[in-house]
Amino acid sequence: MKKILIINGPNLNLLGKREPTIYGSQTFEEYFQTLQSLFSDVDLHYFQSNHEGSLIDKIHEVGFTFDGIVLNAGAYTHTSVAIADALSAVTTPAVEVHISNVHAREAFRHHSYLSSRVKGVIVGLGLKGYELAVRYFLS
Ligand code: DQA
Repeated sequence: MKKILIINGPNLNLLGKREPTIYGSQTFEEYFQTLQSLFSDVDLHYFQSNHEGSLIDKIHEVGFTFDGIVLNAGAYTHTSVAIADALSAVTTPAVEVHISNVHAREAFRHHSYLSSRVKGVIVGLGLKGYELAVRYFLS
């Protein structure tokens, strides 16, 4: 059974309440249940933190044993050399996901420190992006 971890970064614990016109009105906990039933043959895990170091600790923890990491690092995407280094330090491949189309938003969201360290990037497809990222690891 493949082991895949979804990691959400800062403010993504507020999905459902946070700027619903941009991020939708579903909580991630609800959506994660949908993912678990879609991928009943996958050992799917979920972790969220608002703290950069906790995200790095989690990448280290799973990064030599899991088959894939689906990472939405939220605003740390645009600021964190440390998370980029963590992705390079581990052997587990990652896919970067953004719910909104960051390229259609403010200029500071157009650059990602993480994109060069991941297999691929999915942006702007809403929560569906997480499903597509999980599917990538199964193909
Ligand atoms: C986000 C986009 C980021 O720019 C923002 O800071 C987020 C969410 C997204 O999923 O669209 O927190 O990663």
